[in-house]
Amino acid sequence: MWFKKSNALFMSLVMLVLVTGSNAGGIAIYWGQNGNEGTLAETCATGNYKFVNIAFLPTFGNGQTPMINLAGHCDPYSNGCTGLSSDIKSCQAKGIKVMLSIGGGAGSYYLNSSADARQVATYLWNNFLGGHSSSRPLGNAVLDGIDFDIEGGTNQYWDDLARYLSGYSKRSNKKVYLTAAPQCPFPDAWVGGALKTGLFDYVWVQFYNNPPCQYSSGEITNLEDAWKQWTSAIPAKKIFLGLPAAPDAARSGFIPVPDLESKVLPAIKGSAKYGGVMLWLGQNLAPNSVLIGDYEMRLLDRSNAGGISFYWGQNGSEKSLAETCATKNYKFVNIAFLTTFGNG
Ligand SMILES: *[C@@H]1O[C@H](CO)[C@@H](O)[C@H](O)[C@H]1NC(C)=O
Ligand SMILES: *[C@@H]1O[C@H](CO)[C@@H](O)[C@H](O)[C@H]1NC(C)=O
Repeated sequence: MWFKKSNALFMSLVMLVLVTGSNAGGIAIYWGQNGNEGTLAETCATGNYKFVNIAFLPTFGNGQTPMINLAGHCDPYSNGCTGLSSDIKSCQAKGIKVMLSIGGGAGSYYLNSSADARQVATYLWNNFLGGHSSSRPLGNAVLDGIDFDIEGGTNQYWDDLARYLSGYSKRSNKKVYLTAAPQCPFPDAWVGGALKTGLFDYVWVQFYNNPPCQYSSGEITNLEDAWKQWTSAIPAKKIFLGLPAAPDAARSGFIPVPDLESKVLPAIKGSAKYGGVMLWLGQNLAPNSVLIGDYEMRLLDRSNAGGISFYWGQNGSEKSLAETCATKNYKFVNIAFLTTFGNG
């Protein structure tokens, strides 16, 4: 698993996160659909994420029995995902908001009426949020909110679902966060109406699998135009740049790391609505293709960061000196050591 192979990389990321502090954009990641991604607790323990969207609840609405799908992580049919509660709590203890993402690219879902929206909201409240049910699929952990990744069905009643869900914030003493992952063509075909309610806290726009508004080999205009529309028209607290974490994580839209750092982030980070980056790992990521760590490093605002000084030379399994410097993580490298000197 690539998480294990790249432990050293993640360690340096954690250090970077610690020294860069709050000026950096946050990172949201989807967890649950990739066999190589590690456990939820491991994902949160990297210290890289502010939001984790558990993906997905792909079956709900129109009177269907709701059913989560977490790929190979656990079997919801035998109630085998309740053990995730302790992972969820460990994430939340680190200050990470954990959302349930409903929908997804391959689901069976739509709402047939406002009453259906109310019924789904009640189900979500009782089974994943602050309510009670004897069959909570993820156990007794109380999630922070619901993420709308609606990519099919119809465009109706999502605004009602958002209203009913946010109503629970007032009835309980714990806010129910609402987030969404619309496609970058503006307005979104599915949840464009719901987003106008102003009830969504964070919106991670999918700037991938959408050639008309994504970055493409040096050409930033399409992405920038779409970004301006999203940030000026959507009354959410923050807008995130949604990207594939690696070239094979999506059909198109991957941004090579040097381009992300030198062109894309500088063009959008100035916006007061900029919240950070959302990463989608895809379902069939090849172990060696993961560039997520590189992304995270570039996201951090190095100009405001303290520097990291690094000792190199005493560990046979560390990278070459050139590779160490090429990570761009370090301001100082101490070649260690000159152990024999003095006394002639
Ligand atoms: C709409 O959904 C409800 C459940 O919320 C279901 O009972 C009803 O049969 C559905 N209506 C139609 C016309 O399919
Ligand atoms: C070298 O680094 C690896 C990976 O961080 C670590 O497991 C190992 O213990 C280190 N070896 C020495 C001699 O410090």
